[in-house]
Amino acid sequence: MTATHGSRKADRPKAKKAFGIGMLGYSFMGKAHSNAYVRMPFFFDPPPAIPRLVTICGRSRQKVREAAERYGYPRYETDWRKVVADPEVDVVDNGLPNDMHAAPCIEAAERGKSILCEKPLARNAKESETMLRAVTKAGVKNMVFYNYRFVPAIHLFRQLVAEGAVGKVRQFRAAYLQDWIVDPNFPLTWRFRKSSSGSGALGDIGSHVIDLGRFLVGEIESTCALTKTFMHERPIPGTSKKGRVDVDDAFISMVKFKGGAMGSIEASRVAAGRKNHARIEVHGSEGSLYFDLERLNELQLYSLRDPADRRGFRIISVTERMHPFMSNWWPPGHSIGWEHAMVNQVYHFFDALANDKKVEPWGATFHDGHRVDVILDAMLKSVRTERWESTS
Ligand SMILES: NC(=O)c1ccc[n+]([C@@H]2O[C@H](COP(=O)([O-])OP(=O)(O)OC[C@H]3O[C@@H](n4cnc5c(N)ncnc54)[C@H](O)[C@@H]3O)[C@@H](O)[C@H]2O)c1
Repeated sequence: MTATHGSRKADRPKAKKAFGIGMLGYSFMGKAHSNAYVRMPFFFDPPPAIPRLVTICGRSRQKVREAAERYGYPRYETDWRKVVADPEVDVVDNGLPNDMHAAPCIEAAERGKSILCEKPLARNAKESETMLRAVTKAGVKNMVFYNYRFVPAIHLFRQLVAEGAVGKVRQFRAAYLQDWIVDPNFPLTWRFRKSSSGSGALGDIGSHVIDLGRFLVGEIESTCALTKTFMHERPIPGTSKKGRVDVDDAFISMVKFKGGAMGSIEASRVAAGRKNHARIEVHGSEGSLYFDLERLNELQLYSLRDPADRRGFRIISVTERMHPFMSNWWPPGHSIGWEHAMVNQVYHFFDALANDKKVEPWGATFHDGHRVDVILDAMLKSVRTERWESTS
């Protein structure tokens, strides 16, 4: 007889509560989120709760069936309404294109489900306001996948700024640069149409660094921006025709923070040679902090208070057990990657869900998602008016 057979029921650890996941989208984000649900209880010991994969949804029946098999979902659908209505689904995860964020999230809220949604929360602030109203009215837990908040070095960045390690913040600088559409023959997908995406590089990757500006420094009160579209037409997939691009390829902006700091935020999807380069820098009265997503295990600190730093920035390898989330991963010096931030984020959400904790301020709620959309709208307005625009 094994020890388990012999143990009395009362001696066994209590089974963790499980929450059923309904995943909308099986592609890039559907895959990344599903991976995070599977990994979280594997690495976080004990997990606050167990994410149970219930069903996944996508447009193509064949592809969603294959994805369900690969990721571990017992069921699949091609109609998101069936996923949202499924009684076994407790948490709806929306990884669909931007024009399909609002309707499923609002319906999920009305059905009392907890909700995770990809960024940007919606195509514009008016749309995300309806989503924010729905989750607030229903009182359901909600979070936006501003996943870079959960990179341990970014978590540490925020802690150090809050502790005053760089003194009073004077300047924030962020550039998110990619080059995956630098080829003019890259096809016209949903990301190039304002009606489906809302904006281009601005909302797609600029939203991440705008969110980080708010996360690390505080609220943004006004902005002045410039956008540019370099390639106005792209091939329509499956045809020999070209269609019009009506979103930006790149943007640059200046921002004013409520706390008095100034900032510059930019993004491009045509920055030749840059693959996923997000650099964030904060300069304060007592020093500076610097982070680069392509070296995400590192944080650089320069302190005017520390004589040793006169030789230059010190590089902190954010892989020690004392660093945020790192006690759940590998021994010190064994680096982590892009997908681990999503696992950390899923842990945070399930901890909030199972133990009735707040998602904010470490996680981005629909309030934060809406605030980013307000800032994106103000930037687009500023492009038209060629003036500073308020984000209040
Ligand atoms: N947080 C991040 O780092 C990050 C990275 C990439 C994308 N995103 C965001 O994630 C979202 C999805 O992006 P993606 O790159 O996975 O897009 P994608 O184009 O690769 O995938 C879209 C998915 O939506 C499904 N879909 C589209 N229309 C549908 C419909 N009518 N019914 C059912 N399913 C439908 C497709 O089948 C596919 O599975 C976007 O909001 C994007 O901005 C976030």
